[in-house]
Amino acid sequence: MDKRQKLILGNWKMNQSLSEIESFFSNLSGAESFNCQWGIAPQSIHIPKLVEKKSILKNLLVGSQNCSENNNGAFTGELSVDSLIESGVDFTLVGHSERRSLYGETNSIINKKVIHALNKNLRVIFCLGETLEERENEKTFEVLREQLTIGLAGLPESASKLLVIAYEPVWAIGTGKTATSDQAQEAHHFIRKCISEIKNINHAACQILYGGSVKPENIQELLANEDIDGALVGGASLKGDSFTKLCNFATTI
Ligand code: PGA
Repeated sequence: MDKRQKLILGNWKMNQSLSEIESFFSNLSGAESFNCQWGIAPQSIHIPKLVEKKSILKNLLVGSQNCSENNNGAFTGELSVDSLIESGVDFTLVGHSERRSLYGETNSIINKKVIHALNKNLRVIFCLGETLEERENEKTFEVLREQLTIGLAGLPESASKLLVIAYEPVWAIGTGKTATSDQAQEAHHFIRKCISEIKNINHAACQILYGGSVKPENIQELLANEDIDGALVGGASLKGDSFTKLCNFATTI
């Protein structure tokens, strides 16, 4: 099986002032020697601030929380992939559950974004996950399969190198309720099996991250699973000391 490096990504959502960003970096320790891949997706207005930090922290990956499926033009408030790349962004999240539920992003819009970003050679973190209602109605696998089949249809060849998947059960995001290690592994294993049927993904090499109330107290158990290759972290990524712990756990596994 292809060796998959651990990847820890912080999703800061609409949080962090400039002074909080400074304090995050002053409380981050040993980042030069984290033995995992790691990165942060700040608010887009703070992308240049984070890119500036790359001059000291060479291994920092800077991400966008969203991107447009269009090249450029009359799309007020949107973020063009070309401009993100020009600004030094290394990856973009696509299809985060908040984008799906609050901004009406459907599987087919998400598919357009994924393809557009991959065509421009930008690394994509494709997010998916079921709601509590879907889980309780035993629809989890059906929903995940649909999100994967529509969201990842027609991928270009670059996907085999640039696509990362983040499984984030909606009921676990920001709720303090994490999926158990077994629930997470079961979903990740299912996702890896589904993507083996999708063209231009190397399912054995594709990193699949878990997201949803990940914190220093539970990351070790989650990452110990065969198919969990890292984490996409909201709340616990906001403070430098907590983020340091997450990366240190990923380093020791
Ligand atoms: P959380 O958020 O870690 O605060 O649950 C995760 C996410 O939304 O990516």
